[in-house]
Amino acid sequence: MPVYSNPDGYVYSDETVRRLAQMTTAAPDFKIFWDDAYVVHHLTDEQVEIPNILDECKVAGHPERPLMFCSTSKITYPGAGVAAMGASLKNIHYITKNMVPMIISYDKMNQLRHVQFLKNKQGVLEHMKKHRAILQPKFDLVKNTFKNELEPCGKIARWTNPKGGYFISLYVMPGCAKRVAQLCSDCGLSLTGAGASYPYGLDSRDSHLRIAPTYPSVEDLGVAAQLLTICVRLATVEKLIQRAEH
Ligand SMILES: Cc1ncc(COP(=O)(O)O)c(C=O)c1O
Repeated sequence: MPVYSNPDGYVYSDETVRRLAQMTTAAPDFKIFWDDAYVVHHLTDEQVEIPNILDECKVAGHPERPLMFCSTSKITYPGAGVAAMGASLKNIHYITKNMVPMIISYDKMNQLRHVQFLKNKQGVLEHMKKHRAILQPKFDLVKNTFKNELEPCGKIARWTNPKGGYFISLYVMPGCAKRVAQLCSDCGLSLTGAGASYPYGLDSRDSHLRIAPTYPSVEDLGVAAQLLTICVRLATVEKLIQRAEH
């Protein structure tokens, strides 16, 4: 995920994009799956843009390397939107040939609905501004709560400050993430499972929590963020006492 990467919100630098395009690979058919799921999901005035991986790979002599994806799952309807793919002509021919037996036709009414509703790039960007108006206050609320409730306690946690996308990463003291999620759950607050962002859900440091502030109302989110910070402080104290005892 090159733009507002899930879960940290990082954006690949121009240098990283070019390095991926140019690098020598052991396999001649090495592929990059370029998941641009958050490409227009800005949370600030800055419209982050990065070099086009298709162009960069072409220039580097690896035109078949990238397969680029995006969809309107987080623009219109999750799981009921329209998806798009960008790739070399050769890759597009290969993929469409293989898709024919999978799907006889597309949901053309849904495609038409999307064209009529979103119209063009400007229409998409205008629509995303409405999402931003809903989401930015929620992200600010969570970050401010972290700042007010966790910063005064010293270096017990750090968190990301994404310029877009859907998540804030919260890194708590190693060995505490699962405990924080458990304490929250005991109080009726469901977090995404601790470590869920790691392959097989295994966070060897047990430190990461992926915070998704998009869905709850601002009121609920305020209570949830407060509760979360209390649980972070509690889990940290428990861990420090545990360490002191051993
Ligand atoms: C990073 C990322 N990629 C892909 C998807 C899935 O997209 P789609 O619903 O179009 O399959 C999601 C979630 O919607 C996502 O967060």
